[in-house]
Amino acid sequence: MRTVKVHELEFSEFIDAEEIAKAVKNVASRINKDMEGKNPLFLVVLNGAFMFAADLMKEVTISCEISFVKLSSYIGTRTTSTVRELIGLDEVLHDRTVVIVEDIIDTGITMGVTIEKLRKLEAKEVKIATLLFKPDAFQMHYEIDYIGIKIPNDFIVGYGLDYNGHGRNLPDIYKIISPDDK
Ligand code: IMP
Ligand code: MG
Repeated sequence: MRTVKVHELEFSEFIDAEEIAKAVKNVASRINKDMEGKNPLFLVVLNGAFMFAADLMKEVTISCEISFVKLSSYIGTRTTSTVRELIGLDEVLHDRTVVIVEDIIDTGITMGVTIEKLRKLEAKEVKIATLLFKPDAFQMHYEIDYIGIKIPNDFIVGYGLDYNGHGRNLPDIYKIISPDDK
């Protein structure tokens, strides 16, 4: 079993590049079917989704546009810590089909904030595509339209996902080795 160390933590291989590629193709083919003729705008949420988005968009064959957004870091004091802004959006969303592209949905709070912001910009339709989903951690009620792989509630790195800024460049996904696995 391959392991990597990121900062002080050890991780073991969990989902290899081949399995990721299959999941990416699967999401792309569903999007190709559903989005034909809608000229969707894909909004890639940086930083984590950069690798998924690059691979996904190579498999998307319909007419579309791609743009990149980021949620600002938490602003202000602890009491206002849920106030986050969507930055980098130059496109007019009015009356458009938007597909948000995320690396992972964990509690779902981040995506919830993003959806709210996009609704305010009067997008016609907001769809969600995520490579990874942790159903046991999910606390929200919105529907997730495209899920690559469902995973247990463990911390992972690789394929765009980081631990304190590191590990994003790993082509495979690694899962934290908890003390009781050792
Ligand atoms: P949520 O708001 O709890 O759904 O978390 C969303 C964000 O937290 C993701 O976009 C990731 O940036 C980060 N995140 C959640 N789970 C993991 C993980 O297992 N590894 C690395 N980052 C994660
Ligand atoms: Mg993310």
